[in-house]
Amino acid sequence: MAFVIDGKEAAASVISAVTEASVSLEGKTGIKPGLAVVIVGNDPASHAYVNSKGKMAKQCGFNSIQHTLPEETTQEELQALVDTLNADPQVHGILVQLPLPKHFDSDAIVQSILPEKDVDGLNIANAGKIATGDLESGLISCTPAGSMLLVRRVHGDDLSGLNAVVIGRSNLFGKPMGLLLLAANATVTMAHSRTKDLASVCRNADILVAAVGRAEMVRRDWVKPGATVIDVGINRIAAPEKGEGKTRLVGDVAFAEASEVAASITPVPGGVGPMTIAMLMANTVIAAHRTAGLAAPKF
Ligand code: GUN
Repeated sequence: MAFVIDGKEAAASVISAVTEASVSLEGKTGIKPGLAVVIVGNDPASHAYVNSKGKMAKQCGFNSIQHTLPEETTQEELQALVDTLNADPQVHGILVQLPLPKHFDSDAIVQSILPEKDVDGLNIANAGKIATGDLESGLISCTPAGSMLLVRRVHGDDLSGLNAVVIGRSNLFGKPMGLLLLAANATVTMAHSRTKDLASVCRNADILVAAVGRAEMVRRDWVKPGATVIDVGINRIAAPEKGEGKTRLVGDVAFAEASEVAASITPVPGGVGPMTIAMLMANTVIAAHRTAGLAAPKF
């Protein structure tokens, strides 16, 4: 049976370090880290995420600012809000919750966030720094940063000699995750929907990272014995065993099967999920330190 990597515990330890850094920054400089979260429209899942980000920001000792805009907000109105937040010295981090309603040009909005306030790490300046191996001066997107923290807990900082396979090639996760593994000296394969014989590619992975958005796609025979498996998927599936109309969350990995073969594995929920929000807080306190001209804490 594999060791189950506890994302809740790892996230709690990041949050505690962030809180300490935030309190110390305010004590030294009077600067209180400020995180602005913008949400447009009424999607209940997005509102739930945004509320938990706001709560966590307060818990970290931040100034938590939430802007809730109606569905019919125009591109120009949202852009004006981002411009105001960019110019506000009390705001150190800006996050526009995605997806935006369909009538928006999301990329234009996301790219207009100042790179130094882009706590989501989605600005091309931040993405480019990861691609060129500069992991120090920018902001790293939260889910890959959180996944790497879990990988480091198992393998340490140096992944020399290890094969890593990332399934999924999105800008939000797969690409930055592959680049972070590469920067840590892993030999990286970025696999995707057009990869030939995906199962045998995955079987070569000492570190297997799944981010495809398909419930329990990664089966027992995809996993190399002794591998570390990081499951980034969150899929809601029917759970008739819990009663009519009930559902449950599962990852992209068939957990029970895979954990019989892997050495270490993240659960869903309670694995990568809690790390994303913890790294958002980490990025905000890092950004606030930089505005004060102080060395930013490392996580
Ligand atoms: N929606 C779901 N996950 C995320 C995220 O990490 N950042 C933003 N901005 N929106 C999201």
